[in-house]
Amino acid sequence: MDFYDVVNYRRSIRSYKKDPVPDDALERIAKAASAAPSACNRQPVKLVAVKSPDKLARLYQACPMKFIAEAPMVLLALGNPKQAWQRPGDDHSIVEVDLGIMFEHVILAAEAEGLATCWVCAYTRANVDAALEIPAPWTVLALSPLGYANADPLPFNRKPLAETFEII
Ligand SMILES: Cc1cc2nc3c(=O)[nH]c(=O)nc-3n(C[C@H](O)[C@H](O)[C@H](O)COP(=O)(O)O)c2cc1C
Repeated sequence: MDFYDVVNYRRSIRSYKKDPVPDDALERIAKAASAAPSACNRQPVKLVAVKSPDKLARLYQACPMKFIAEAPMVLLALGNPKQAWQRPGDDHSIVEVDLGIMFEHVILAAEAEGLATCWVCAYTRANVDAALEIPAPWTVLALSPLGYANADPLPFNRKPLAETFEII
């Protein structure tokens, strides 16, 4: 798939078939994640694929979204704020920027594989971390179901380009 087709066809999918994700596709997605840049190349991020029915059930308890119960697996984007580069001046950990880049690599690679995803951040982090026994200071900063789409996305809706891009 052409890069711009991947970018333009990717949409958030909120209903999934049970069909499994091929192992080779998952491996290519993981390699796309590990190719992501990070500040000072600290790589303070990890991708975890949750496939075990027991762990998926525990995740669903902490993040009760229908599509998490439906999908054959859920991808977790873990960040370690202490390992990440800190911005001079305010010592702000840049982990969420690194994490966002890594996970968008994942989301776009999944699209290139014909698989569907949906970024999810609307959960209580402490509950998800506890449910999956994530060792601190690692924490689940985002997650996404991964599988084959079982429904169309919501209508496409973006601000006009003139509001989001300018040349100065
Ligand atoms: C950082 C981030 C967090 C998001 N969290 C959620 C979420 O918790 N639940 C959800 O259904 N969608 C979530 N989304 C998906 C957005 O709602 C979606 O990307 C946006 O509406 C644009 O639609 P599209 O992805 O189909 O183009 C999130 C997206 C991003 C980038």
